[in-house]
Amino acid sequence: MEMEGSVSNGPPSTTRIAVVTGGNKGIGLEVCRQLAGNGGITTVVLTARDEARGAAAAEKLRALGLSNVVFHQLDITDAPSVARLAHFLKTRFGKLDILVNNAGIVGLEYLQDHIDGTPTTDEEKFVGMGMDQRLELLLKWCLRASPDAGKICLRTNYHGTKRVIGALLPLLLASADGRVVNVSSEFGQLRHFGSADLRRELADVETLTEERLDEVVSAFVSDLDSGAAAAVESRGWPAGAFSAYMVSKAALNAYSRVLARRHPSLRVNCVHPGFVRTDMTVNLGLVAPEEGARRVAAVALLPAGGPTGAYFQDRRQAPFV
Ligand SMILES: NC(=O)c1ccc[n+]([C@@H]2O[C@H](COP(=O)([O-])OP(=O)(O)OC[C@H]3O[C@@H](n4cnc5c(N)ncnc54)[C@H](OP(=O)(O)O)[C@@H]3O)[C@@H](O)[C@H]2O)c1
Repeated sequence: MEMEGSVSNGPPSTTRIAVVTGGNKGIGLEVCRQLAGNGGITTVVLTARDEARGAAAAEKLRALGLSNVVFHQLDITDAPSVARLAHFLKTRFGKLDILVNNAGIVGLEYLQDHIDGTPTTDEEKFVGMGMDQRLELLLKWCLRASPDAGKICLRTNYHGTKRVIGALLPLLLASADGRVVNVSSEFGQLRHFGSADLRRELADVETLTEERLDEVVSAFVSDLDSGAAAAVESRGWPAGAFSAYMVSKAALNAYSRVLARRHPSLRVNCVHPGFVRTDMTVNLGLVAPEEGARRVAAVALLPAGGPTGAYFQDRRQAPFV
């Protein structure tokens, strides 16, 4: 008898289906373009939370001759939306080969007035500056941390991504070579945590469980709720404005490793795309979206039987710490 939600393994399939979350712009849109242009992928399902923006992005790619791009709505924080995507994929394809979890937010408030007021749009001001200096100026001019933005960041980058993986897992397991690529960040490396105990616990994938990881994330969210940034730092969470983003990506990395251990038939990997010029970085990144996406697509297209539970940065495997 077939269990609810499971997918029967039919004859080996020659089709290859990929889903990309947050595909309407930035790195996600470029990943869709590159995967669709790769001869080995039959269909790329470009997903986006906004129907109009997503459909327009898919149309743009089809206009480039990539007729294998289809659009489906997906808000990764919305359980019914995730369930609708899972149903669509199950009935249309019966399996999923590649899931690129790209949708994500930085967990800061963007102060639009300051962006429009333009110190940030004058590119010449930034020539010769590295990432740290650029981020410092962004924080000065147009980005602000707030507990609410931090909580939405955890809800999206960690819980939302986990929800998508959970719903699509039966379809990934129905593929002969299922792959999950989590678009993470070097900000998720454990070196950003002040607490040696937290670093050790999140790195110890032999003993870490999903339940414990959820508890760690809830503890961070309660500390955010309780207010002062100083309190957050005194507990050994990552310091500074990117604290919530760092926790979200570190937790996503740790979850990827737990998942990779639990499902050895899948390839579950994380990748840092670089500091990329997208809306997230107010277009002040140092890497073009094409290059950021290439790093992501390269992990999605690793040869069969490649690494799993790994983290990639600058096109090579790197430590999670
Ligand atoms: N840019 C960088 O330097 C950099 C560095 C390291 C890692 N990353 C990671 O790369 C990924 C892509 O970022 P990006 O730079 O391309 O940013 P971006 O241009 O802001 O794009 C983010 C995408 O995620 C979507 N999204 C946000 N919340 C969502 C939700 N609840 N459900 C579905 N989609 C949602 C956005 O949709 P809307 O258009 O509807 O908002 C958008 O399509 C993120 O995971 C980010 O953390 C980026």
